[in-house]
Amino acid sequence: MRRIRTDLILMVALCLVVILLWTSYHPQPPPSNDVQLLIQATQSPNRPPAVSRPTLHLWPRCHRNLSMVNVTGFSDLPERLRNFLYYQHCKHFPLLLDLPHKCGGTDGSDVFLLLVIKSAPGNFERRQVLRETWAEERKHNGAWIRRIFISGTTGTDLQKQRMNKLMEVEHRNHGDILQWDFEESFLNLTLKQVLFLEWLEDRCPRAHFLLNGDDDIFAHTDNMVEYLQGDHGNLSGDKHLFVGSLMEGTGPVREPNKYFVPVQVQESDSYPAYCSGGGYLLSGHTANVLYKMSKLVALHPIDDAYMGMCLARAGLKPSSHMGVKPGGLFLPPKVDTYDPCYYKDVLMVHRFLPHQMYVLWDQVHDPGLRCWSN
Ligand SMILES: *[C@@H]1O[C@H](CO)[C@@H](O)[C@H](O)[C@H]1NC(C)=O
Ligand SMILES: *[C@@H]1O[C@H](CO)[C@@H](O)[C@H](O)[C@H]1NC(C)=O
Ligand SMILES: *[C@@H]1O[C@H](CO)[C@@H](O)[C@H](O)[C@H]1NC(C)=O
Ligand SMILES: *[C@@H]1O[C@H](CO)[C@@H](O)[C@H](O)[C@H]1NC(C)=O
Repeated sequence: MRRIRTDLILMVALCLVVILLWTSYHPQPPPSNDVQLLIQATQSPNRPPAVSRPTLHLWPRCHRNLSMVNVTGFSDLPERLRNFLYYQHCKHFPLLLDLPHKCGGTDGSDVFLLLVIKSAPGNFERRQVLRETWAEERKHNGAWIRRIFISGTTGTDLQKQRMNKLMEVEHRNHGDILQWDFEESFLNLTLKQVLFLEWLEDRCPRAHFLLNGDDDIFAHTDNMVEYLQGDHGNLSGDKHLFVGSLMEGTGPVREPNKYFVPVQVQESDSYPAYCSGGGYLLSGHTANVLYKMSKLVALHPIDDAYMGMCLARAGLKPSSHMGVKPGGLFLPPKVDTYDPCYYKDVLMVHRFLPHQMYVLWDQVHDPGLRCWSN
């Protein structure tokens, strides 16, 4: 009896050793394969259906480029810009929370408007209100609206773990969080954007249109669907579309404020035309083009300007829409800034607190709403 037991223990131990050896000799496939796969998938004219590949999870940690210390004036730059330059070459980070079935798995043809909302982990209240207001997943005029919040991580150690836990719970309960393992910061917004475009290519290449915006905008998504359905012309997800609040003839900010872009990041004093990043609408076709261009254009810390650079690289232009007001509405003094009549015909306006959004969304849908013009 005792003999048998010792044998058994020995056997188990042996098995464990074998398993250990096996796993250590079979590491994850090298990332170069995945790069190849991704490139093939995007280059083939008849793109194969998006199958659930683990590609997005496998990227190894990207390390900072220490040669940057030799760039003239580097040590005099603010820390956030030094960090930007150290990591400028990193265009892949591991995906922590994925939504492989957001667009119906392999056939995402039913998503008409995908709402892609930049949201830092701490902005829980904003996400909650958006879920109940303009970003509610629903059908409007026969067209499906779907929602995704895109996020990095915040904090370190325990704080980071807690925030990630929050994102995990929201992901489980609402199925609307995409999260990558990079640090949320203003200068990393471009990175977030590029990571999203990569995800889109892989997981949701057939979405017709996208709204790309912040979590504090008021987006009149009903009006957007109606606009995109072609009341105002011929719009198709297969053609170029990039509309918002047009910025032309601008260039990098050289004063040392939040938007500061030093010559070490960009020498040229001008930007190609772009749309203000608070919110813009684009077609699935254009998103795909932007993704391809993002592989060629070095990351720039101002995310909306970067989109303009990628458009320019592809020979495309952004355009303007009157209903997009990233600077807020410019209303005469003494009027009620939250009068729903100002908002019932817009596409989007920046910026609102969660409780203001909640009331406004209700009010613009009030069938009894009486405004001056009708
Ligand atoms: C690292 O920085 C140096 C100096 O700016 C640059 O020449 C080099 O191309 C960078 N390497 C990568 C991988 O981006
Ligand atoms: C910076 O430049 C010096 C002199 O050319 C060189 O010896 C050093 O290796 C460089 N440092 C990095 C991190 O590239
Ligand atoms: C961007 O994210 C990376 C990865 O987490 C981080 O190391 C870097 O400091 C961040 N950059 C900025 C400018 O915050
Ligand atoms: C819309 O598309 C149809 C069919 O492709 C075409 O006949 C029509 O001229 C287009 N209208 C506009 C305003 O572009």
